[in-house]
Amino acid sequence: MTFKIATTTAIRDKIFHRNSSSSSNGDATAMNGHTNGNTANMPLAGKVALITGASKGIGRATAVHLASQGASIVVNYSSDANAAEEVVGQIGRERAFAVKADAGSVKGVEDLVKQTVSRFGKIDILVPNAGILPMKDIETTTEADFDQCMTLNVKGPYFLVQKAIPFMPAGARIVLVSTTLCAASTVTPNYLLYLTSKGAIEQMTRVLAKQLGSKQIAVNAVAPGPTATELFMKGKPEQVIKTISSFSPQNRLGRPEEIAEVIAHLGVTSWMSGQIVRVNGGMA
Ligand SMILES: NC(=O)c1ccc[n+]([C@@H]2O[C@H](COP(=O)([O-])OP(=O)(O)OC[C@H]3O[C@@H](n4cnc5c(N)ncnc54)[C@H](OP(=O)(O)O)[C@@H]3O)[C@@H](O)[C@H]2O)c1
Repeated sequence: MTFKIATTTAIRDKIFHRNSSSSSNGDATAMNGHTNGNTANMPLAGKVALITGASKGIGRATAVHLASQGASIVVNYSSDANAAEEVVGQIGRERAFAVKADAGSVKGVEDLVKQTVSRFGKIDILVPNAGILPMKDIETTTEADFDQCMTLNVKGPYFLVQKAIPFMPAGARIVLVSTTLCAASTVTPNYLLYLTSKGAIEQMTRVLAKQLGSKQIAVNAVAPGPTATELFMKGKPEQVIKTISSFSPQNRLGRPEEIAEVIAHLGVTSWMSGQIVRVNGGMA
């Protein structure tokens, strides 16, 4: 892998105009998710969140944020056990555990749901977040590219929801993950394959909200703008990152924690369903 986390952190800090030691909100609990086991008076005490791709980026920030509100967390990942264990350690093992599972396979999501229910008994907040970003236009996309992208970005969330529903009580929430680029006019042709997959997520959000409303389960999606994560930074020269940052009126990338705040809100909101919420600093 060519991606270097140290380099990326330095670039990200430059783009955010901040020191790498500073937090987005200065709140220690929100930063590390650890509540020392004392969750009794927290808003998400007793709630269980299952997040795919929770070892890094937006998924990780969401895991930590929801944990800081008192939720128990299932940290799914596919290959990097150390990163997942770091998140679990940060939250505390009494309320978090890591599950290695391919979030793009039916067997993987079934296993994930089984392990969640076996440990915590139910799922209150489901965040099918794991995704890949292939840069492919109509001429360069192979069948293998198409299948890989659709498998993780569409099939995985689709069947995760199907397997999770029997264990989601009334009042549970599903937060899917799209992208602001579905609505941006600045999109370039090499986003075709990725946006084809995220378009499907937006339609799933609308239609699932209709079916699951009868079970008192709300379904919404967050649609982040460019956000400083491994997925976004990988392979992009600093100049390209600066250019993309300039698409936002605030001239910077989003932070994973800023997306997590909105996912957390969608994880509890009571009367909002079938909506796509763009989180991008005003870009689109
Ligand atoms: N970053 C952005 O600018 C941006 C903008 C809009 C939307 N999004 C969306 O936000 C979501 C998260 O993106 P991110 O930027 O946070 O990504 P990221 O930093 O690259 O993190 C990806 C996470 O997904 C996991 N993962 C990858 N393949 C998996 C698989 N087959 N099964 C289970 N887990 C898997 C990774 O774990 P391992 O390392 O162990 O594989 C990692 O935890 C994606 O759906 C993406 O499309 C991102």
